[in-house]
Parts: sequence; structure tokens; C-alpha cells
Amino acid sequence: MKHLVDKLEENHELTRDEWVRLISSYGDEDLREYAASRAREASTAIFGKNIYFRGIIEYTNFCRNDCYYCGLRLSAPDTTRYRLTPEQIMDCADEGYRLGYRTIVLQGGETAYFEAKNGKRMVDIVRAIKTKYSDVAITLSMGEMKHEVYQALFDAGADRYLLRHETASADHYKKLHPEKMSFDNRMACLQKLRDIGFQAGPGMMIGSPGQGAEELAEDMLFISRFEPHMVGMGPFQPHHATPFHDQPSGSVELTLFIVSLVRLLRPKLLLPATTALDCDVNDGRQRAILAGANVIMPNLSPEGLKKNYLLYDNKPGITQSAEENLVKLRSLVEEIGYTMVVGRGDHPDRVKEGV
Ligand code: 5AD
Repeated sequence: MKHLVDKLEENHELTRDEWVRLISSYGDEDLREYAASRAREASTAIFGKNIYFRGIIEYTNFCRNDCYYCGLRLSAPDTTRYRLTPEQIMDCADEGYRLGYRTIVLQGGETAYFEAKNGKRMVDIVRAIKTKYSDVAITLSMGEMKHEVYQALFDAGADRYLLRHETASADHYKKLHPEKMSFDNRMACLQKLRDIGFQAGPGMMIGSPGQGAEELAEDMLFISRFEPHMVGMGPFQPHHATPFHDQPSGSVELTLFIVSLVRLLRPKLLLPATTALDCDVNDGRQRAILAGANVIMPNLSPEGLKKNYLLYDNKPGITQSAEENLVKLRSLVEEIGYTMVVGRGDHPDRVKEGV
């Protein structure tokens, strides 16, 4: 199978069948290590040993959706709901700026509250942060919104948008979501985000129930077609209050293998070493960097509320302050010979001059 890794590295696209064969071989440790070393080199060739840090503010855990995997789902009974005020969000952004972040990620459940009035509530927050800190990039992750809302948020100065597609197989999407959630709408939202001018970040859980090599092959073909700027990937983790509470968590090894293959497929991508990688092990994010990831997202949410933003059980870092979390992750990165970078950390094709 190494020949398929070589083929990818030489900028060749793989066929569906080749993807299935390559992904199915993930049990081969030697192959995984080979892919990781090639991916690591591909990443270093573009980004050096620099890891972009982004501070993430989880501004609400209210959500109107009922995804079968997620602890924030509408019908999760024991989730204590909260919504930060604009002042609380600005306090977190201030703390983030003080700690050195130049990308702030605003992530929350999907709500009518932030979609209403053409997104005005979030538009005002984006504008306030941008006015105060003109050298900060803002990434939004607030779900499927009307396209006018996306446009208004972009016009207010938001730079990037994370909206994981979760799976590029429409059939598999139906197994992860209730009837009223639409695969087509999610894909249309992603396309719209790109067209508007956001750096767009789809992504998928690895090892979600019902996912096999065929589904992951669809994800790889989708990434080739869509040309995202970022791809967020982490292993599925069960949450006790969801329909998938008794499903096994996704494999860390498979996740790292997919990270490596995505890096080789599109070397310039922004690829986060995601928090979910450290639920079952404690070196998952380090290994993701060594497998080709180049972004890490420490938590900037207010202390005391972090424990309520649980997409899955065993989320690490929820008792740490923003500063402690940063120090911990910086030392993890440095331990393996990488450096935390202060800066916006744009996609190489989208670097803004003068900021
Ligand atoms: N396990 C892993 N990832 C999850 N997400 C939501 N629930 C889970 C879970 N149980 C991911 C989804 C979502 C992102 C914000 O978090 O991919 O898009």
C-alpha cells in the first residue's frame, strides 16, 4: 500500500477504489508510520515546525439540532444550558489577546437566537472584536445559517468558518442525524461559505457509528472536490446522554492515519490536532502533529462553564483556566520539537498582507 501513499505525495488523485484499499489497510503499523513521516515532511516543508494556536470561546451550548452523537443535542436531558453575554465574550477575547492569540474561534450550538435579525447579535460581537483588535482573525463555528447571515458575518469581518460535514455519504449522514436535518443543506451551506469568501473548514468524525472505509473514501473524494482551507477531524467519542452512548469510540490510530492522508492530499491545509484525540489517550494531539497536523485550539471559555460544553464524555482540559490550558498545550508542542506561533495563521493562499 505504500505505493498509494507515494502516489498521493506525487500529487496524484486516488480513485475511490484506491482510497478504500488504502484506508482499509490502517491496521498496518508500518504503513501508518510511513504515511505519518511523509505527511510530517509535507507539513514542515510549508509551515516549518510552527503550530498555529487558536483560542476557542464556546459561547453557548444551546442547540436546536438533535444529532445522535452530540452531548449538546436538543434532547440531552442533563445538559445545563448557558449563553455568554457579549461582555463575557469580549472578556474572553481580551484574555485571549493578552495570552497572545491572534485567532479567536467562536463556537456554539446552532440557535435561532444568533441567526435572528440577519445574525445581528453575532455580527455585533464580530464587529466589536475586530474594532478592538484589528490584527485578530475570527473563525466562526455556529452551524447552518441562512445564507444572508453568512454574508452579514463575513461583511462584519469574520475570516473563517468551521462547519464539519460529518460524513460525505448522504446515506451515512442519515444514520447520524434525525430526519429533519438535511445533508444537502449542510453541503449547500459549505459551498455558500466558500463562495462568500470565508476560509472554509468542513470535517468529519472518524469512527462514527456506521462509518467504514467506503464512507471515509467519500470524505477524501469530497475534500479533493471541495478544496477546503481547513479540515477538522477527531475520533467519535460516546456521550452518555445520546442515542450513541454505547457505541465504541473511534480509533486514535485510524484518525491519525486519516490526518496524514489528508495532509498528503492537500499539503497546504490547516489541520488541527483536535481535543477529541486526547479523550482516550494523553498524547493524541502530539501524535497528530507528528502525523501532519499544524493547528491546535486551546480553550478560552470562562472557567466554571467549560464543564457544560461537553460534545462527548472524557473531554480533557475542562478544569484548567485559559492560561493553564495554553501553557499545557504549548509545552506538549515544544516537547516534540515544535513552536507555538503567534499570528493569524491563515491558509498559505489566503495570507493577508500587512496584518
Ligand atoms: N464525538 C466526537 N466529535 C463530536 N462532535 C460532536 N459530537 C461529537 C462526539 N460525540 C464534533 C462534530 C461537530 C464538532 C463541533 O464536534 O464533528 O461538528
